[in-house]
Amino acid sequence: MNLFDVYPLYNITPVKALDCTITDENGVEYLDLYSGHGVISIGHTQPDYVAKLKNQLDNIGFYSNAIQNPLQVEFAEKLGKLSGCEEYSLFLCSSGAEANENALKLASFHNGKSRVISFENSFHGRTSAAVAVTDNKKIVAPINAQQVVTFLPLNNIDLVESELKKGDVCTVIIEGIQGVGGLDEGTTEFFQGLEKLCNQYDVVLILDEVQSGYGRSGKFFAFQQHNIKPDIICLAKGMGNGFPIGGILIAPKFTASHGLLGTTFGGSHLACAAGIAVLDVIENQKLIDNVNDVYAYFLEAIKQVPEIVKVKGKGLMLGVEFDFEVGPLRKKLIVEKLIFTGSANNKNLLRILPPLTIKKEAIDTFIVALKESLAELKA
Ligand SMILES: Cc1ncc(COP(=O)(O)O)c(C=O)c1O
Repeated sequence: MNLFDVYPLYNITPVKALDCTITDENGVEYLDLYSGHGVISIGHTQPDYVAKLKNQLDNIGFYSNAIQNPLQVEFAEKLGKLSGCEEYSLFLCSSGAEANENALKLASFHNGKSRVISFENSFHGRTSAAVAVTDNKKIVAPINAQQVVTFLPLNNIDLVESELKKGDVCTVIIEGIQGVGGLDEGTTEFFQGLEKLCNQYDVVLILDEVQSGYGRSGKFFAFQQHNIKPDIICLAKGMGNGFPIGGILIAPKFTASHGLLGTTFGGSHLACAAGIAVLDVIENQKLIDNVNDVYAYFLEAIKQVPEIVKVKGKGLMLGVEFDFEVGPLRKKLIVEKLIFTGSANNKNLLRILPPLTIKKEAIDTFIVALKESLAELKA
């Protein structure tokens, strides 16, 4: 059987990884500044994480959500404390799209409405409602198109209000910082305006923190830079350090009832062990402090590269923007300089999403490689 060919592949075959280093089948080592789409939070094969998962597998890996699972309770308590969101409740699932799907559904159950406000250049996943609220027509199939969605530009609060006034809007969904789109984000004034208007018009405010959450922005959640309290917060990526975990944090105003949401795999023993290990490492190694230190260092270091037009994003969720398309530069960085970076819908932007454990020396390595690559491409 062949694989369904939907991914354009680099000709690199990793067989081992440790912290921010990936080793391929020929023993060549790469610096990982992309974390496999922002997934690796605590570093590849972090020893405490590996030990906890192995131990859990020796005991029990999975049973259904019809039995008691104290690991889910431990996970929720730790996540509440570390994120500063203790008053929220946790529903566990297995991916970012599934988190958003459940958030949208819960919003609609809650206020009985169905139209969604989403933002231009947003990405929320590929399942039914999640893809419908994603601003990319190429990945929305006709079967997803029954969803009623209005896409608005970021940072125009008057346009949001003119839509919410119509009375049929169920929810506003927004990324803490846009990921796939290219690291654009709402201003504090805009986020605070959304919170106020959503309360005023009985609209649910969903913060998609699938990529920007879990410390990546320099706060546990990116929205915490703006001093707001969303109604639902969606998580995935960094939660499991590669183990597929997603979740939504649900504000107290929502009422749970048996059967309202559900999943087979979400919150398994193995997933919870992975999730707890990630939180323990983030806390014990003070990784959010590291994010802020390395971010400050990055902003200084990048001044050595005059070709850079702008650095977008925050913390270790960064977009380095040029005034030309970066495809050849990114390829050179991977193939010749052995550094993984990411791309975005914005073709002029290199995405930098390293593990949160990254050291300043790795930034130096990147800057040298970037300067050399730019000079070689010009020559
Ligand atoms: C902001 C955001 N939301 C949702 C998703 C979808 O997550 P998943 O691929 O785990 O379904 C992504 C994935 O890149 C994302 O960046």
